[in-house]
Amino acid sequence: MIIRKLEKKDLQETAKFCRMNMEFDSMPDFLFEEKTFLDDDFDPEIALIAEEDNQIIGFMMGVVRTLQTGKCGYIKLMAVKSDRRREGFASKLYDVIHEKFIKLGCERERIYESHPNYFMPGIDPRYTEAICFVERKGFKKFGDTSNLLCDLVTQDFSTDKEEQKLIDYKLIVKRAESKDLEATLEFLKNDFAAWVPEVTRAFQNDPISVHICIQESKVVGFSAYDTNNLNTGWFGPMGTSPTLRGKNIGGILLKRCLADQKVQGHQFAIIPWVGPIPFYMHYCNSKLQRVFWRYEKLLN
Ligand SMILES: CC(C)(COP(=O)(O)OP(=O)(O)OC[C@H]1O[C@@H](n2cnc3c(N)ncnc32)[C@H](O)[C@@H]1OP(=O)(O)O)[C@@H](O)C(=O)NCCC(=O)NCCS
Repeated sequence: MIIRKLEKKDLQETAKFCRMNMEFDSMPDFLFEEKTFLDDDFDPEIALIAEEDNQIIGFMMGVVRTLQTGKCGYIKLMAVKSDRRREGFASKLYDVIHEKFIKLGCERERIYESHPNYFMPGIDPRYTEAICFVERKGFKKFGDTSNLLCDLVTQDFSTDKEEQKLIDYKLIVKRAESKDLEATLEFLKNDFAAWVPEVTRAFQNDPISVHICIQESKVVGFSAYDTNNLNTGWFGPMGTSPTLRGKNIGGILLKRCLADQKVQGHQFAIIPWVGPIPFYMHYCNSKLQRVFWRYEKLLN
């Protein structure tokens, strides 16, 4: 067995390997590329293939993010060939990545939730072998989160009448334009600083996949989609100024994004890593789709 770095030429084969060995997920080539080479923090030293006779047996990718609380190393993707499990492949790949995390000064490690470019917000516990694996490696469960699923086909997301009512409060809702980027980031800085990278990314989409609410030329609310896991129906993030909650701004902004996603041809929108479940249930009848367990290991 050799361990080697993931290279561009491996993209299709490794994406296929993930598709075949992660039974609850699909991993199209474009998504695998986004998760790996297109991650701003992609480090080839910690995107590793375990290989035997030129066949991929295992794949594990780590990524390091610099957070306000210090550096965190994430295991972002991992899979071992289904008929070669429990032979130590994941352990060998993990050992290399773990050593590198320590060398790079990480204070903690987490599993999968490598915001803003992440595949899933934790481990879907139906991957029970993965739960066993990370607990064996000393990770502790510290919480859970979930994704909601919104049926786009059966619902109408028009908001014209609701938007009229907002005008009484001098509130204008519209799709963001390039010139709105600065004002949107200014708004995010106050209440939603963690989402600056995702929303900035959404401004690069065509059309810009951000809707905003403006009051007296200030942004007071936003919603976005296609900010992560692009072209999979991924919704969010979204937020309304705390002083203006309860006026239906969030509901309208949410529906504007869902309407766009429906036009894109998606049957479902995924509302990840929630959050206010009753809010989404109320406005778009979204239901719990998947649960994720969150794990952490402290390195100091
Ligand atoms: C999770 C996964 C990557 C582990 O790969 P692996 O090569 O089988 O792992 P290892 O052989 O290195 O296992 C190391 C330790 O983890 C634990 N472990 C792994 N699989 C286990 C299982 N099926 N049952 C109990 N413990 C298990 C054991 O403690 C094991 O050590 P031991 O064999 O000495 O007791 C693999 O099961 C897999 O690809 N699963 C599907 C994809 C997946 O779940 N990805 C993560 C999605 S969130």
